[in-house]
Parts: sequence; C-alpha cells; structure tokens
Amino acid sequence: MVQRNKLRKAVFPVAGLGTRFLPATKAVPKEMLTVVDKPVIQYVVDEAVEAGIEHFVFITGRGKGVIEDYFDIQFELEQTLKSRNKNAELTLLSGLLPKAGTASFTRQQEPLGLGHAVWCARDIVGNDPFALLLPDMIMRGEKGCMKGMVELYEKTGGNVIAVEECAPEHAHKYGIVGVGQTLEGGFHITEMVEKPAKGTAPSNFFINGRYILQPEIFAILETQERGAGNEIQLTDGMLKLAKEQAFAAYHFKGDTFDCGAKDGFILANVAFALDRADIRPTVEEPLKALLAALK
Ligand code: UTP
Repeated sequence: MVQRNKLRKAVFPVAGLGTRFLPATKAVPKEMLTVVDKPVIQYVVDEAVEAGIEHFVFITGRGKGVIEDYFDIQFELEQTLKSRNKNAELTLLSGLLPKAGTASFTRQQEPLGLGHAVWCARDIVGNDPFALLLPDMIMRGEKGCMKGMVELYEKTGGNVIAVEECAPEHAHKYGIVGVGQTLEGGFHITEMVEKPAKGTAPSNFFINGRYILQPEIFAILETQERGAGNEIQLTDGMLKLAKEQAFAAYHFKGDTFDCGAKDGFILANVAFALDRADIRPTVEEPLKALLAALK
C-alpha cells in the first residue's frame, strides 16, 4: 500500500442547483434548509467531525454565500446574546463553529456535475486522501457513517464507499456495486454500475453519498468527459480509478434521508424530531393523530 498522510480533509460539494426543491431553493441553498433546528449541512459537518476530520472544504457556487456566513461568527447576534445573558445559546453557537483556518471555500463557477465539483477541490486537498460527503444526504445510526468508513479505511487503505441495501426493484435508481470478498464491516467492490437497467443490477447495495478517495481521482476528473445528464460524473471517474486501485464498501446500517428531495426532507424532520427529548413529547401524539386520520 502507498504510504499516505492521515485522512484529515473532507470535501462538501454544495454548488448544485437543487432543482428538485424549487421554489425554496430559488433563494435558499438546499443545504441550508433546516431539519428540526439545524441546517442540513450542519448534520453532515457533525458527521465528519465525529469521524476525526480536521479540515472542511466547501465547493460553493452562485447564491451559496450564506453557507460561508453560517460557518462564521455572527458578531451582532453574539453581542446581543451576551448582553442578555443568553449563555446556553452562546455555547451552542460556539460549539458549532469550525476553528479559525479549518474551513476552506472555493467556487465551482458553473454546476457542471459532481465530478467537476470534486475536481475543484484539488488544490486545497493536494496529494492526500480525502473524505467526500454529499451534503443533501443525512444519516442516522448508532455510529456515524463516516466514522465507520474511517475505521474500515484504517485497515484497508485505498478507496472506500459507503453502501446500503435497497429493495431489488429500486436498484435501477442508484449507483450499485458488485460484492466481492467479505471484510470486517463491508466487502471488496468488484464493479460499479450507475443506474443499471431493470433486472441487471449486480446486487442491491447502493452508494449512499459518502466516499473516501485517493487524490489520483483529481487527474482523472481533469480530463473526464461529460456523461449522463451532460454532466461530469464522479462515478465515471471512479470507474477509471478502480482499474488502478482497490475499492472497498462499508456497509452502513442505519437510516439515510435524501434531503435534496421533498419526501426525504420531510421524513428526516419527523425522524430527528422524534429522537429529541425536548421535542418528542409535543409532536408524537399529534403525529399519531394525523396518521390515524388518514383515509
Ligand atoms: P444532486 O444532483 O443531488 O444536486 O448532486 P443538485 O443538482 O443540486 O440537485 P437537483 O437534482 O437539481 O435537485 C449531489 C451533490 O452534488 C452537488 C450538489 O450540491 C449536491 O450536494 N453538486 C452537484 C455540485 O456541487 N455541483 C454540481 O455541478 C452538481
């Protein structure tokens, strides 16, 4: 195995248009929509922090400046909270702030696809392995998905992709991996297929939006041609990298919510609200009543 530096950096591509969530995303980035009381992006950054990530790289775009502001001190607000002795709120805010110098922001000037967004991180990431977290997917489990991936990565090196099982009839909607030799917590990946035609998927393990990748992916993405949807696709780049390097799958056992889609976002709000001791008592019974009243 090539000796590499420790996994320290995570990339968050937040430059997409969020067309599935219009009209809200006309003025608010989808990553800033709130699940209970935190923006979606905060859940994903928290997952990276839990996994030991030390530097956070955001690939932003037009209209996404509010994400950069969110990860900064809000001076007037904090002065007002101080003058009103709102110490709990102050502690909450400071606990969420990345340390100075540990967040980087770069722009993908045109949304040319996820592969292109990842390539925009090349100078900041340099010649190190990096975590990639799609910020519209949020997870709920005993252990954070990225933390489990890092544990596997420390044994395997190479590239690691998180997967989950779907019903076989839904496999055509996802990126699907082929299953090889078993590993503790996952397996070796034998193949990757983006949205396989119905009935042809090599398994029902789908890629859920979390990756640990080696920096050789950048040179591949540099010359990657546009693929599906006329976008530069990350999967096309990973398929080329897989000819040179090993890919392992980490089998995440928990719930994933696609907050870039309306149904996933609503389910995330319900699930995370029910997990909260301060909120569950006032929402559980009304929710049950709403469901019971369904005809
Ligand atoms: P999606 O395809 O889910 O995001 O990309 P999107 O394009 O914003 O969404 P819709 O389909 O129009 O509703 C997955 C992730 O990759 C980022 C998105 O922000 C999202 O987090 N992305 C996608 C970029 O940063 N740049 C791109 O060019 C495309």
